[in-house]
Amino acid sequence: MSGAMLTGAVLAQPAAVSQSQFVNTLMPQPAQLSVNSGGLDISHGVGISLDKFHDDRLDNAVAWARERLQEQTGTLMQAGAASVVISADGPGQAVQGLDEDESYTLDITTQSAHLHAATDVGAMRGLETLLQLVQSDGNGFWLPMVSIQDAPRFKWRGLMIDCSRHFEPVGVIERTLDAMAAVKMNVFHWHLSDDQGFRIESKIYPKLTGMGSDGQFYTQEQAKEIVAYASGLGIRVVPEFDIPGHSTSWVVGYPDLASATGPFTIERHFGVFDPVMDPTRETTYAFLDKFVGEMADIFPDAYMHIGGDENNGVEWKKNPRIQAFMHDHNLKDTVSLQAYFNQKLLQILKKHGKQMIGWDEVLTPDLPKDVVVQSWRGVDSLAAGAKQGYTGILSAGYYLDHMDPASTHYSVDPVPANTDLTPVQAARVLGGEACMWSEYVEPRTIDSRIWPRTAAIAERLWSPRTVNSVDDMYRRLSVESLRLEELGLTHISQEEASLRALAGTQQIDALRPLAAVLEPVNFDTRSHWAETHGVTTLSPLNQLVDALPPDPPSRHDFGDLVSTYLQDPVAHHEEEAALAATFRSWSPSPQMMELLSSSPQLAEALPRALQLTELGTLGLEALNYLSSGLPAAPGWKAQKLAILDNAEKPVALTRFTVLKPLRDLVNEVR
Ligand code: ACM
Repeated sequence: MSGAMLTGAVLAQPAAVSQSQFVNTLMPQPAQLSVNSGGLDISHGVGISLDKFHDDRLDNAVAWARERLQEQTGTLMQAGAASVVISADGPGQAVQGLDEDESYTLDITTQSAHLHAATDVGAMRGLETLLQLVQSDGNGFWLPMVSIQDAPRFKWRGLMIDCSRHFEPVGVIERTLDAMAAVKMNVFHWHLSDDQGFRIESKIYPKLTGMGSDGQFYTQEQAKEIVAYASGLGIRVVPEFDIPGHSTSWVVGYPDLASATGPFTIERHFGVFDPVMDPTRETTYAFLDKFVGEMADIFPDAYMHIGGDENNGVEWKKNPRIQAFMHDHNLKDTVSLQAYFNQKLLQILKKHGKQMIGWDEVLTPDLPKDVVVQSWRGVDSLAAGAKQGYTGILSAGYYLDHMDPASTHYSVDPVPANTDLTPVQAARVLGGEACMWSEYVEPRTIDSRIWPRTAAIAERLWSPRTVNSVDDMYRRLSVESLRLEELGLTHISQEEASLRALAGTQQIDALRPLAAVLEPVNFDTRSHWAETHGVTTLSPLNQLVDALPPDPPSRHDFGDLVSTYLQDPVAHHEEEAALAATFRSWSPSPQMMELLSSSPQLAEALPRALQLTELGTLGLEALNYLSSGLPAAPGWKAQKLAILDNAEKPVALTRFTVLKPLRDLVNEVR
């Protein structure tokens, strides 16, 4: 919506497309791609067949691909002149693991497309590429004549969803898995317990959900359904049970696990809290042994995530019995005590056939080398671990809840070009995971917080490091975003639906000029506001900020337009006209003011409408100066920079997406 509005004048005349012109919108980009002119006409359907190995998973994947092709082209896909032949050599691993072969080749000629892969998983990755290749013009649909050899750069390309702070129903998880598969991600890291809720049924310990979940949890049947659903897409499911800290929801029903005396209640606030398991009692390990055994039956993946983050040690320091234990066992501090706990837990995991993965904090001296470390505090700790011999994955830089633009995540590389890791050390970096912490996320809004930005992270983890043009990423991301919506994700439609709900009318066009240039404030600003306004897990997330997507198209499109204009303000008339039209649209209409006054949540953003007028005026004045080459009137610049400074301040938990380019415009005036 906003992109078209901002750049409509520039993009008004798309180049005429013909079959010889392939527009590459692949996301992620393949490892190797060569393009010839011409293509395979699929306007009258295409037969898709498997000429070698097939199994249920691959048959289902082909059926689904056929359905999506039909949706896209409006044509029944059946055997005819054109054909897609899929040759898979054999099945993937019985339980998908790190060494799953996901590679494939795809060769398209004017007669047929041939997809070859060693495994059904590789064939499924190739099918996603095939679907993204479809080209169209007024005359029909075709597949371009390309030859692709593709394989992922990293083995572990994940998305973590925190289902504790806010619960996500099965349907949300499944559509998220669909989207992950579309961008070739292969690990769903399921954060199932935290202070705010215990989200999976234990039949051995029913009070975990009975007292720790408010009735919002996955039954074992549902968890198995999700594991099977993910497996059908070639996605591993790694469950996380965050211990020994972040464990309030466990001890509500089982206070004997805790280091302090109960009773405990489910935590309603956000942050780091004191409840922590008692690592000194054998009963704690007996409990965990049975629990891990029960979960190992539900989650076949080789890895189990034990959390391990943000234990503040307060209850350990306060408890004389635990202090005496530390003294007796020569454990000098709470970090050493947690390392002791982790060693015991590791034996339990091993007994049940699981390898351990934990957050940064598990990396302590003497940690066995087969524990995977997930870096959330910085890229440096990942490299430090790799140098010591640990495998690891990166999440620092991929925190979706921070509300950073896709470009920021895209620039974070688990093994950057200037790495000082040796090849052997670099090979220990398995990949990375986007993290969707859910303090301010609920089923209605989660898609717009995850997508489309996660597609940029997926590309960083799949494609060669040299695929790094931010402009090209955004060009392709805007297309991928539409494809994801077609798959059933609500990241685009949610904004308008939420605005309609807030305004109480279907006539919300007048809000668009403002909504298009606003996005949520960053995580820290929102957290500070939440703390000072009594926000809890029970608070509704139905403010304007919840309707707005992070990194909307306006951010990149407007920045791009301004920078092109500034290359030559006197000559770039088209960009000038587009900018002028945008600035004029920023003058709030009476209808906008009326809509903003229609509910308390929208009324909070009234100051933003007035600021938008000022920004529009500022923009038009800057254009006049720059296009004429005349110097600014005395005091003009200082006055306009003050307006920009003021507009930087959060209002209604929103921020403008356009201030940096506006500042560039003002600063360019003589
Ligand atoms: C974390 O963000 N505490 C892993």
